[in-house]
Amino acid sequence: MLSGHEAAAVLDRQAIVMEQLVSDAPLVSVLDSIVIALEELIAASRCSVLLLDDDGVLRHGSAPNLPAAYSEAIDGLVPGPLAGSCGTAVHLGEPVVVGDVMVDRRWDDFRSLARTHDISACWSSPIRARARVVGTFAVYSRVRHEPDERERELVRRFTHLASIAIDHERAARERTARYHAEMARESAERANHAKSQFVTALSHELRTPLQSITGFAESLSTLELSPHQRHKALQGITRASTHILSIVDDVLDLARVEAGAMPIQLEVIDAREVVAGACDLLQPLAEERGIDLVQSGPPLPALVDRRRLRQIILNLVSNALRFSGPTTSIRISTATRGAEALVTVEDEGPGISSELLDRLFVPFDRLGADAGREGGAGLGLVLARRLADAMGGSLTLKSAVGIGTTATVSLTRALEDELADAVEVTE
Ligand SMILES: Nc1ncnc2c1ncn2[C@@H]1O[C@H](COP(=O)(O)OP(=O)(O)OP(=O)(O)O)[C@@H](O)[C@H]1O
Ligand SMILES: [Mg+2]
Repeated sequence: MLSGHEAAAVLDRQAIVMEQLVSDAPLVSVLDSIVIALEELIAASRCSVLLLDDDGVLRHGSAPNLPAAYSEAIDGLVPGPLAGSCGTAVHLGEPVVVGDVMVDRRWDDFRSLARTHDISACWSSPIRARARVVGTFAVYSRVRHEPDERERELVRRFTHLASIAIDHERAARERTARYHAEMARESAERANHAKSQFVTALSHELRTPLQSITGFAESLSTLELSPHQRHKALQGITRASTHILSIVDDVLDLARVEAGAMPIQLEVIDAREVVAGACDLLQPLAEERGIDLVQSGPPLPALVDRRRLRQIILNLVSNALRFSGPTTSIRISTATRGAEALVTVEDEGPGISSELLDRLFVPFDRLGADAGREGGAGLGLVLARRLADAMGGSLTLKSAVGIGTTATVSLTRALEDELADAVEVTE
């Protein structure tokens, strides 16, 4: 039995260990505290905890005052009927008391090790958690020794504490593993769902132009058409085919960037030139719509893929043109912000409500907008954002209903001299 004074000491140490458990301290420090506490209570003892791993082998857990060489030597101990005190205790599932390691058969294989490290007696108890043996608690002595009733009681209490600590850590590990498995399952499900939605939307998008081709082709083959009507029908077929081609190109590009297989050729160029080129291309369309394209801002040395940047700017300016009314302006400007080179496309169109902004980057989601004559498929922004990401940049959109939309492409800024160097190399 423990004296009142000793019981209080045990309780104090138990409280410290419990606090460590509550604060999720690493298992090794909790076990060290338990081992040190027991060493303080059993005079001249050195204690250790070994942990049984999933392969049924004993591994080092805690032995702060045993020689490191000894702990290393017994790390990987396989339990068995003659495996020292610890290996035998795990094998039998019960405590093993060896009062003199020099004569006990169970220490035959470890005798010289014991001699080297001044071990004369060792007494080991299995630690159980959830009815399974999970390790051992050993008390070593430098002299031949059999534990008395008091020592047995102390070891019983501290073994129990060690079992709580080990169980706590394993439960936390299991929880984490379950959480990761659940996250992986959910993300696989989400990806699968997104893919089905994508395929459905793609089929739907292709159906309309294909039906229109079939319709025109049927009229051409079955009806007596005037040359003018034939011309109209052929124009319809060309328009629908071009539309299908552009959808397929975008889908292929999207698949390539998502698979990380889009070849990106980064070079230092003046991004403002790319912007100007894209605007020149869209100028006739802007005039047709009565929309002013206004460019401003300084030259913009940036590390980009010229072709992909052009694709992004074309997408953004086309959107601004497609969705804005006549007599409005679209301002396309360049600027720098720290290490970023920015291109901004700002329109005075209808804007996008904040609830719809999240859906902007969902393939084929046109937010209910009419495809219109050009028949946008709803892939432009998704692709533009992925391309910007692939170049190490980003694309963000801000919008206010009734006021307009601002798209900002952020790119990696380069220095003026790098630009000059790049120009020299290409010249
Ligand atoms: N500048 C803008 N002003 C108002 N609405 C916009 C603007 N840009 C995009 N949107 C809305 O976001 C939707 C998605 O744009 P996105 O560029 O991805 O597709 P799209 O232009 O419809 O088709 P695509 O670009 O594939 O030809 C558009 O259909 C439209 O509803
Ligand atoms: Mg678009």
